[in-house]
This record gives sequence, structure tokens and C-alpha cells, in this order.
Amino acid sequence: MGPTITRIDATLGAVVTDLSLADMDAATWKAVEQAFHDHAVLVFPAQHLTEDEQVAFANRFGEIELLAPDPQQKAVAISNQKPDGTVMGRDEHRFKSLRGNEGWHTDSSYMPLAAKASVLSAQVVPSADGETEWADMRAAYDALDEAMRRRIAGLSAHHSLYHSQAKIGHVVETGGGYGFHTKGAPLRPLVKVHPVTGRPALYIGRHAYGIPGLGAAESEALLSDLVDFACRPPRTYAHRWKPGDVVIWDNRCVLHRARPYDYREVRVMRHTRVAGNPATELAATDRDERASAFEPSASNR
Ligand SMILES: [Fe+2]
Repeated sequence: MGPTITRIDATLGAVVTDLSLADMDAATWKAVEQAFHDHAVLVFPAQHLTEDEQVAFANRFGEIELLAPDPQQKAVAISNQKPDGTVMGRDEHRFKSLRGNEGWHTDSSYMPLAAKASVLSAQVVPSADGETEWADMRAAYDALDEAMRRRIAGLSAHHSLYHSQAKIGHVVETGGGYGFHTKGAPLRPLVKVHPVTGRPALYIGRHAYGIPGLGAAESEALLSDLVDFACRPPRTYAHRWKPGDVVIWDNRCVLHRARPYDYREVRVMRHTRVAGNPATELAATDRDERASAFEPSASNR
């Protein structure tokens, strides 16, 4: 018997049960991959994967995007807990990065090679709140009126983590963490055609800015209006985590954000990112004025 796939009451997302992600036969994997393309966000309750099992699961979808300097490290902690066990203060660099994740975004759009997919598993969750929320950019594109579709056809935006963090008052120097690089700001079309399903989707979010041909204010207003329109029911789903839950989502057609919680409590998630395909997720870059230099590269490393 195959896994049970239950649609979430939204335009995206399904809950997948009656399987072990750590031990899938070929037919089960095929069902999971098909569900990923159909629903774009898959929730697998109570899987309790080890780090190696999570990396192996992510690896089924493609190469792992390395987020840490050590190439052996294929999963990273997304956590407000410091090595000594205490929680981060509000002024700490990494805490500001976590707060940045609370804005709608797609992973690694600010890198030359944007991400294909992301996997999160819950390790330690706060007593309330701290959900992750996703928004369906395929359904958002479908819901645009004809005038807006015409307006955005052919437009592109730059993507920069310097830009999105600066908007929340977090100014980071070049080299100050993953994404704060000198490779330039990728220029990406506002409408992305999914390489597998062929469905068009809005490709926007907090890292996007600077649409060529538009003034800075006009560009900002358009991008912000699109996010406001797109990230609404019935196109959204927020997951309240339990330890052991695993979620994978398709960064090519959904936005996501972290939801706030009481930051005095500990929240630890384990994250593995699947690299995009250079044929469809690699973008040329332009100089990012916030970076210390501009050294174009087709590699994220
Ligand atoms: Fe993210």
C-alpha cells in the first residue's frame, strides 16, 4: 500500500502519512515526488529523521546547496539557541537573520543559483506560535487580472540579502554570513515557469528589488503590492510544528516565512536546502551596491 496523501484546505500543500521517509521503496518515492509537483508543500508528521536521514531525503530531490563553510555540513540549525544553551539577544547578528526570515521570501534567490527545494524538520518547538507559513505563487499568478499579467510580463527584479536585511535595519558587511557575497545581485523574471509542471508562478519576495526600467519607488510599490495580493487565503498554509515533523517545499513556486513566537523560548529547526538546476535556476548578476566588491560567478561557493 502506498502513502496516504491528504490535501490541505488551501491551493497548496498536502499531509503525507503511512510512510517512513528514511525507508522508501521506489514506488513510494515516486508517489512522494509526484505529490511534491502537485502540491508544492508536503508535510510529513512524526518522522523523527536523524541528520543523515534528512540529508539523504533531501538528496533524492537533487544536490545539496552548501550553506556552511564546511563542505561536509549538509544540514544547518535554524535556531535562537546559542552553543551555551542560552537564547540569543535581540541585537545579535544571527537573531536579526532569524527575524528576517519572518518576511515572505524564497530561499537563495539572492545567490547566483537559486534553490530548488527546502527541507525543515522540527527539533525543539516553543510552547506556542513559531509556525512556518507558505504561499502559493502558482495560484497567485492565476488570480492576477489580465492588466497586471500584461504589466509584469517581461519584467525582472534583482535579489539581494543585503537589501532585504537592510530593510529591517540589519546592515551586514560582505563576508558576514551566507548570502553576503560579492557575486552580485541576480536578475530574475517576476514570472517563473516551473521547469517540471510548466505552470507560471510569481517569483517575488523580500529579497526582490530594483526592477530595471522602473524607478526605485515604483519598483518597490509593485513588488510589495504583488506580495500583499499573493500571500492571502486560500493560497496560504501555516504549519504548527511538533518535534519530528518534516516539511519539504518547492522554492520555485512558493514563498514562505517564519512566524513570531516568544523569543525567550528555544526553537530549533534543522534545515537542508536542495540546489536549483543551473539550466533553470541560475541567473546573471549585476553589481550589488551594498557589497564591498563585484566579482561575478556562476557558482554559489
Ligand atoms: Fe527561508
